[in-house]
Amino acid sequence: MGYRIYFAGMPTDNAHEYFRHFGIRILDSNPDSPLNKLPPLLRQDLDKYLCTCNDVPKIEIINAIVKGATTVEAVRKETYATMGVGCCTQQVERLIELLCAPEPAKRRRKNKEGS
Ligand code: FES
Repeated sequence: MGYRIYFAGMPTDNAHEYFRHFGIRILDSNPDSPLNKLPPLLRQDLDKYLCTCNDVPKIEIINAIVKGATTVEAVRKETYATMGVGCCTQQVERLIELLCAPEPAKRRRKNKEGS
C-alpha cells in the first residue's frame, strides 16, 4: 500500500533527520521549492504521518500535490491519504490550496496586464 521516497539512498524521513542533525534544511533552501508556499508551521514534521489512518507522511502528500494531484481524490489515489476515517481531509485540502495557489508575483503581473 504505502511506499517510501528515497533521497540519497535513504528514506526521506531518515534523510530529513540526517540533514536536520547538521542544521541543513534541504528542501526550502531552494527559492523555487514548493515548500516556500507553506507557512513555517506546515513546513515542520514533513516526515511525520499526516494521515495516521494509512501511515502517509506529510512529505509524500506534498510530493503528490506538486506532481499534479490537485484534488483530494487525486491525492487519495496517489497516496491512500484520506482513505481511512477521513480525519485528515481538511489538512490535505489546505495543502492543496496553499501549494496550488498562483505565485504572488504572477498574480500581480496578471492584474497589471488585465488593467
Ligand atoms: S488520518 Fe487520514 S483518513 Fe484518517
